Amino acid sequence: MITAQEVAALNSKYQELQPKEILKDLLAQVSNIAVSFSGAEDVALVVMAWKLKKDIKVFSLDTGRLHPETLRFMERIRKEYKIDIEFLSPDAQQLESFTREKGLFSFYEDGHEECCGIRKIAPLRKHLQGLDAWITGQRRDQSPTRADVPVAQVDSAFSTQDKPLLKFNPFANWTSKQVWDYIRMFDVPYNPLHDQGFVSIGCEPCTRPTGPNQHEREGRWWWEEATAKECGLHKPAVIASDR
Ligand code: ADX
Ligand code: SF4
Repeated sequence: MITAQEVAALNSKYQELQPKEILKDLLAQVSNIAVSFSGAEDVALVVMAWKLKKDIKVFSLDTGRLHPETLRFMERIRKEYKIDIEFLSPDAQQLESFTREKGLFSFYEDGHEECCGIRKIAPLRKHLQGLDAWITGQRRDQSPTRADVPVAQVDSAFSTQDKPLLKFNPFANWTSKQVWDYIRMFDVPYNPLHDQGFVSIGCEPCTRPTGPNQHEREGRWWWEEATAKECGLHKPAVIASDR
């Protein structure tokens, strides 16, 4: 198991490597690790990891509000690649009291934090407790809030007192174009919403297509400030980073 101290060194080393080499190296070092899959262009990450490790663990936060296209697409990936994707559901009781009190679209009125907290963060936190590390498709070019995303970090948002949780973002230094070049080059299936103007894809009520010269993040929680466009999955959590 990599210690928190070793993560900084690893992060420096990974700056010079391509995502495939990063994945290869980290999968050889950490076994209790899983890829988080949103059903968008991070399919490139899932397929890249699967090529290196056929029984790679993958999980997805099934918020109950994803587009039908995204659900169908994830099912396609599950079947075609025979990946055992774990779909994580929110706690039913917590969700029922929340929607009973506030309805189904409260995020338009009082922000997305509470809904994301129940539908994404709580199930994620529970799941991460059973892992030593997770891998995400985050990139620096995705958002102003991600400009400093390291490749390797200690995830201070989800680490516990007993156990540091490591987080790897092998695509951190890749651009959107590089991800899409990979998808096209290897004929990787992708979410059909991408052909309908959607660039960044999350839950249906909180995602919309973006037009020419709009940043991809403008299609997410568009009624909120650019700096608030994180749902808590990826709070800046850098303990060990040199970039
Ligand atoms: S989000 O925090 O704004 O929703 P974004 O859609 O940019 O994140 O995706 C960045 C990375 O976060 C994805 O590549 C994936 O690793 C993880 N992620 C986002 N949404 C989910 C989800 N529903 N299930 C699992 N992982 C997710
Ligand atoms: Fe709720 Fe929107 Fe967050 Fe999805 S993205 S969990 S619908 S607030």
